[in-house]
This record gives sequence, C-alpha cells and structure tokens, in this order.
Amino acid sequence: MTKRRDRGSRAEAEAGCREHFVDAPLYDYEYRHRRADLNFYRQLARNRMEFAAGPILDLACGSGRLLLPLVRDGHQVIGIDRAPEMLAAAARRIRRLSASRRARCTLVRADLRAFATLGPATLAICAFHSVQHLHTDEDFLRFLACARTSLRQGGWLAFDVLPADPAWLGRDPERRWGRTTFRHPSTKQRFVYTSNHVYDPAARLLHMRLYYQPVDDEGRPRGEERTVRLCHRQFAPDEIRRLLGLASFRLVEVFGGFDGRPLAGAAGSDDEHVYVAVAV
Ligand SMILES: C[S@@+](CC[C@H](N)C(=O)[O-])C[C@H]1O[C@@H](n2cnc3c(N)ncnc32)[C@H](O)[C@@H]1O
Repeated sequence: MTKRRDRGSRAEAEAGCREHFVDAPLYDYEYRHRRADLNFYRQLARNRMEFAAGPILDLACGSGRLLLPLVRDGHQVIGIDRAPEMLAAAARRIRRLSASRRARCTLVRADLRAFATLGPATLAICAFHSVQHLHTDEDFLRFLACARTSLRQGGWLAFDVLPADPAWLGRDPERRWGRTTFRHPSTKQRFVYTSNHVYDPAARLLHMRLYYQPVDDEGRPRGEERTVRLCHRQFAPDEIRRLLGLASFRLVEVFGGFDGRPLAGAAGSDDEHVYVAVAV
C-alpha cells in the first residue's frame, strides 16, 4: 500500500516526469483515442502559417503524436524531448514517411528548460499537459525563455494544462481508482490498471501513481505489480498570465477546452485549459 508520506520528495517529483515515458508503445496505446487536442493544434498551425512561414516547434514532442500529423499537413517541424524511448518511437514513425516528408522533420534530444535556440519559428506548441512537468516558477520561466528566443517576434506559443478539480484532488489516496483490464500492445501480456494520487498543496504538485498488475486470462495476479509515478504541477490562469508576462509573452487567448469554449474557471465546466500567447 502506498502511504501519503512516501510521496512528495524532489526525487519522487523528478521520477514523475520520466517514468510514464519509458514505455512508448504503452503510452501510445493509452492515449490512442485522444484527438481533440490534435485537431485544435493542427488548425492553429494552419491559421498561423497563413500569416508567416517557418518551422513549428513541437516542445515535448514525445513519440510524435502531434508532430507526425503536422508534418503530413505540410509543415516543417522540430520536435524536442528528453526521453530517449519517446524520441526513438518518433524516429521509427518518421522513417516510415516519404522522403519529402522526412526532410521536414527534425528531432532534438533536449530539456525543455535548457534547449539551444532553434528556428526562428512562427509557432511553438507544448501539447498534452507537458508544461505541468515544469514544477516550479523557475522551471517554467526557463522554458519560456528558451521558447521565446526560438520564436520570431509575433510568433505564437500554445500549450494546455489539466485544471485541478478539488473533489478529484481530494480522493482517498489509499484506494485504487479507475480499474481497467487491457493487453500490452507489444507483449500482449494482460494487465489490471489502477491509479491513485496525493496532492501537495504547498508545492502545488499532484503526485499520481499508475499501477500495472500482470494477470492471467482468468484475472488472477501473475508476477509483480509495476508502479509508474507521474507528477504534475497545478497552474491557475492568473499565474500563467503573470509568468508569460515576465518572459516577454502576452497572453492572447485562453480556452476552457479544445472545442474553443470560453474559460469558465473554478465554477464552470472547463475541460482542459488551452493558452495561446504571442512573443512580444
Ligand atoms: C504527456 S507527454 C506529451 C508528449 C506529446 N507532446 C503528446 O502530446 O503526446 C509529456 C512529454 O514531456 C516530456 N518531458 C517531460 N519533462 C521534460 C523536460 N524537462 N524536458 C524535455 N521533455 C520533457 C516527456 O518525455 C514526454 O514525452
């Protein structure tokens, strides 16, 4: 049983930015139905490129879930990530593209907080809650500084975060939630998946644990359960607006979901918060 006191160390938080990205085929399988963000960012890239041409930066590109569709749409894309397993999966997909599409892809292994100047780009996207792996204001400002120096003046930065629902944050951390059974896409081993989490309000860090118990075809446990840590900083819109301002960005739009609905805040029916800022 995972105890509250086991969570919250710096090492735990750091592990929470890496462990979920070690098994790229499993990551791709778990998020295979996630589409709304892709549609949103593809449309943004289309709109942006009507004003100015230039490469798109896919910051924390992972296994290429967004990078590949952007390349197929005709854009030149530079993907940055630090997880070798995710980059290897992206590279495998890029190898299957036609030569002309391959020529429009670049992968760079780097940290979001310290990547060398790229571009100059007209659009930088940091999709699927990846900025929530930047656990302190300093980390987020370092990331913004790198993004800013790689963007032209007037270039856009777009990213999303998953807002915290207080009821969900306060769930019993000793219980297991969200039980599902699935087969691993590569090994075909059957697993029971469960999860739980602890929220550290002082650090604004959500420490999640994802549990993968191997089972046989009758559902009986077989072998050791694997625990994967995942840690997300919680951001409020005002904080993001302030930090963007400190890093020479101006927030131009915040949506309460990828369907473009307005931000409702704590009282309303927000899904994910989607931010679009301009480099000033
Ligand atoms: C939720 S995944 C998103 C991947 C991809 N953008 C997508 O939408 O599927 C988060 C990604 O952030 C990367 N990541 C986390 N912290 C990072 C850091 N400090 N520097 C670079 N990449 C980081 C992980 O390796 C992982 O690929």
